Amino acid sequence: MKIENKPFPKDFLWGGATAANQCEGAYLEAGKGLSTVDVIPAGEDRFPVMLGNLKMLTCDDSHQYPSHEAIDFYHKYKEDIALFAEMGFKTFRLSISWTRIFPNGDDEKPNEAGLKFYDAVFDECLKYDIEPLVTITHFDVPIHLVKTIGSWRSREMIGHYERLCEVLFDRYKDKVTYWLTFNEINMLLHLPFIGAGLLFDEGDDVLSVKYQAAHHQLVASALATKIAKRINPNFKIGCMLAAGVTYANTCAPEDVFKALTKDRENYFFIDVQSRGSYPNYALKMMENAGISLNIEPDDLEILKENTVDFISFSYYASRLTSADPKVSAQTEGNVFASLKNPYLKASEWGWQIDPIGLRTTLNTLYDRYQKPLFIVENGLGAVDEPDEKGYVEDDYRIEYLRAHIKAMRDAVVEDGVELMGYTTWGCIDLVSASTGEMKKRYGFIYVDKDNEGVGTLKRTKKKSFEWYKNVIKSNGTIL
Ligand code: BG6
Repeated sequence: MKIENKPFPKDFLWGGATAANQCEGAYLEAGKGLSTVDVIPAGEDRFPVMLGNLKMLTCDDSHQYPSHEAIDFYHKYKEDIALFAEMGFKTFRLSISWTRIFPNGDDEKPNEAGLKFYDAVFDECLKYDIEPLVTITHFDVPIHLVKTIGSWRSREMIGHYERLCEVLFDRYKDKVTYWLTFNEINMLLHLPFIGAGLLFDEGDDVLSVKYQAAHHQLVASALATKIAKRINPNFKIGCMLAAGVTYANTCAPEDVFKALTKDRENYFFIDVQSRGSYPNYALKMMENAGISLNIEPDDLEILKENTVDFISFSYYASRLTSADPKVSAQTEGNVFASLKNPYLKASEWGWQIDPIGLRTTLNTLYDRYQKPLFIVENGLGAVDEPDEKGYVEDDYRIEYLRAHIKAMRDAVVEDGVELMGYTTWGCIDLVSASTGEMKKRYGFIYVDKDNEGVGTLKRTKKKSFEWYKNVIKSNGTIL
């Protein structure tokens, strides 16, 4: 049989992905508390705030805050899930808003109204045989914990996170099987406030703060796995990496080694979560940088004994690096610094489009970990121009997804990579995490709202909606 006719595995989980803060809105409704993502404004202050360099821990009238209404999934989830079901989704990835469950993070009891909301969302999914895939935290820390203990700087966060997991696993043990502990855990290094609620003062040893916070998250993630298996041994727990292979700018050995080092910066987290110990290269890097972690006696055993069941990751683009300081033509708009790759085209936001890079990433991760993989984010952020009826002919999005699904099929069918599923990012238009814009759209479903927050929030199917429906129906043989 020709490769293009070979279907994906029988139980392959096709679907789409979202995050609470980028779609729910209702930011203070039904007892929800304020979270880091609620105080990150749109506009020019966004980046300094996400980096942890500009402190803004409350909202003010001079800024616009995209998470406050987002696309109002909180009130429209039934309509949205019905549309996902119409496309034939087998799974829907969403995240829990921590402050719907514990408004301050350290409350004695969880907020019943928040728990009920996710009960309703999961029931709606299950009604259509859609398997929920739940990210426990997706760029989300209660502001109260940032103010009182400095978020993941503090070891106390582990206990608060454990309580959150305990409540979620117990409440939803019969509704949810697949859990991810932290979204893009390596984002902590690149955008520390959105990634982990970290703020910096002058004189801080920034790298030490980041790696200590990473240690806390890694222990918390391992403890989540431990709690999960006690509550329901059938749970499947995954880690989540912002992935994308790094190429060397030339075949000069210095460039090749630099690319290896860059990739390790990100693999570090997954090496710990999947293999259960700190890799030697990371221990040496910390020693050379003068970073001395506070590790408690049981921590290393906790990491060793509670590794993840599967590796999930986001993939949008590959990266390019050089050891030569004179080579410096960076791409724009990337959270991960990358040189311009002359062989690749880029999206309107400068993200370099590279389907073969996805095949390489899949193979690299599978070779390294030998555990099932799950692509939980992939997609094209683009400006859509609806016609007078609100219909969008998004052939460019179809083209992007088709090429990536083909590459993914090559990895599975040709190379033997074990892949559990594929959820495209922003299956319905939602707020962009990096820019806070609405006009950077990823969805199969158009949402009528602009960057200024104006619009009816009406949902309209795009051309890609029918296309993706057929991809799922044919289990990836009709692209
Ligand atoms: C990932 C995040 O970094 O990329 C998502 O997990 C985010 O939250 C997605 O939305 C796409 O990035 P952006 O900046 O285009 O929204």
